[in-house]
Formats: sequence, C-alpha cells, structure tokens
Amino acid sequence: MDLQTFSHQLDDLRRRALSAVDEAADPAALDQVETAYLGRRGELRTLLALIGQLPAEDRPRVGALANPVREELEALIAERRERLTEIALEVRLARERSDVTLPGRPQPRGSLHPLLETMREVERICGQFGFVSYLSPEVETDELNFQALNIPLDHPARDLWDTLYVREDGELRASAEADEDGARLVLRTHTSPGQIRGMRETAPPIRLLMPGRCYRYEAVDASHGFEFFQIEGLMVDEGTHMGHLRGLLDNVARALFGPDTQTRFRPGYYPFTEPSVAFDISCLICGGVGCPACKRTGWLTILGAGMVHPVVLRNGGLDPERYQGFAFGMGIDRIAMLRHGIPDIRAFLENDLRFLERF
Ligand code: PHE
Repeated sequence: MDLQTFSHQLDDLRRRALSAVDEAADPAALDQVETAYLGRRGELRTLLALIGQLPAEDRPRVGALANPVREELEALIAERRERLTEIALEVRLARERSDVTLPGRPQPRGSLHPLLETMREVERICGQFGFVSYLSPEVETDELNFQALNIPLDHPARDLWDTLYVREDGELRASAEADEDGARLVLRTHTSPGQIRGMRETAPPIRLLMPGRCYRYEAVDASHGFEFFQIEGLMVDEGTHMGHLRGLLDNVARALFGPDTQTRFRPGYYPFTEPSVAFDISCLICGGVGCPACKRTGWLTILGAGMVHPVVLRNGGLDPERYQGFAFGMGIDRIAMLRHGIPDIRAFLENDLRFLERF
C-alpha cells in the first residue's frame, strides 16, 4: 500500500458513495448509505485503518486527503435528506388533492320525532297562557304515583292503572303482590305524580306542564303501548275554576286541530280530581256526523281532566280552603296519531326509517 493506491481507493469510495446518495429514494435508504460509508464500521473507517501500511512520511497526508471527502459526503447526505422530505410532502399533497368538481355526498337531514314535535307544540300553545315545563321522574314512588293522588293501597281504583312495579333489585313485576317486600317504586303509570312534586316544589300561582314517558302493564296493539307519552297540565291559584280549564282546553284543541274544532266535557272519574271530566273534540274524520273512527259518536276523547281534589292539594302542601286548581292529562301518542293520520301507535317507537322520514 502506498499513498497513490490509497488515494485511488479513496476516489473510488467517493464516487460510489456519491451515486449511492443520489440513488437513495427515501430517508431509510439514505440512512443505510450513510452507515455503509461513514458509519463506525463503514468503508471510510475501514480504509483509514490501513494507514499503518503506508510509509511513515506519507501518513500525515492521509487526513488531508480523507477529511474533505468525509465533509463533502456529510454535506451531500444532509442536503439529500432535506430534499427527500420535500419530495415526500409533495407526493402526499398531490395524492391528497381533492377534486372539487366531484358531486357532494348527500347529508341526511334530521327532523323532530312526531311525538316530540307534538309535545313541543302543546308546550308552545300552553306557554302562551303562562305555563312552563317541569320534568318529573319516570321511576316514581308508589306514594306519589298513587297514595298522594288519593288512591290508597288496596283501593280498587288502582285497577284503573295496570302497573309495573320496580323491585329493590331493579326487576320489574306486574303486580305488587308478586313482591314479598312490597315494592315501593313503580314505573309511573301517568304524569299525575308530577302534580304533587310541582305543588311541593313551587308556590301558587302554579302553571306547570309535565311532559314525558309513562308505562303500563298492557297488551300491545294498534292503540295500546306499554310505554306511551303524556302531558300533564296543572294550574293552582286562588279562585281557579272549571271555566279556566274549559277555556284553556278549547284553545289548545283549536290550535292543535283547527279553528272549527268543536269540544265538549263529559262526566268522568279520577280519584285525584273532583269533579272529573273527559274532554272530547269533534271527530276529525267525519266532522261530527259519525263514522267508524269515532265509533259513530261524532266525538274523540283526547284527555282526562278535572278540578284538583282537596286531598291532593293538601298532599301537595296547599290549603284547599284558600287554593283551587285544575289538572289535565293528555295522551301525546293519540294526539300525534290524530294530527298526522297515523293508524298504529307501535310505529312511534319502532325506529323504522321509512316511517320517521315522513316527518
Ligand atoms: N292521570 C290520568 C290518566 O292517566 C289523566 C288525568 C290527569 C286525569 C289529570 C285528571 C287529571 O288516566
């Protein structure tokens, strides 16, 4: 080995390294080239290790030959690395470029469920008379669902509501007797327990609307569901009377079903109102002449109502000598069915898009 051979080998190494750097197509390949030529076990180190074979006077010149080559390679590798990063970015930008001429993807438009829409409509109408909404729980105590509403334990009036009782462990039972501990919780059978909560938590003058889901142990068919929706209305003030109830309900009926809608009160029975009434509207199908939809009576019943029973006022913490009130309970499902001509109550909760998309 002499200096000339060394210098040739160095030239050869430089040329091969330069073309390898040029050819490296990605950062990983470039790393490999760097290790192969400049690494601790790379070609340049290996060549320099032969220095010992050179004549002593030539050895100092080795560094002068080799260092510029190493510096050149290091600079070129750094430059190439930067270029490769740029190329990668350019490729990505080109690949991800969006074609603004493509047609857009359709965005399905949502709409309110007919039950929610009907509840909001009733809230809007009654809101014009000063009623505000109040949410009352769906899992209710037996005390508020029945006893405080003047329906004692073991009273036959309980049979008006087929009840789902909630046991301590969360299991549902169809009757209280099925539970040895005596179930203290029920799935509310109506929104009326909200009357007691509303009276206890606010003060007269009271004008509340209590919308929400109710449950009954019911055989399901086209007009019965085991879960359904009601809106309870409650007004309590000094001097409240049946005329206020009638006036409000007439306005609600005409706003919901049209200005020509006829209305009537029929005697009814509820343990928590006295007197109690059923509220009818003239049949929307036949206009009152009589047809199969109204069972030839010309009338459709849309809610139960009455003057709040003194016992209920007292259970709500109010003095019945001073305050009177009216309450009504409206079945939202039935009203939505009448408004939209929906023949089957089951459609509401089946989540069939073909049904929901109609609204
Ligand atoms: N809670 C009664 C029911 O669901 C309806 C009602 C409410 C009647 C308020 C009178 C007063 O059957």
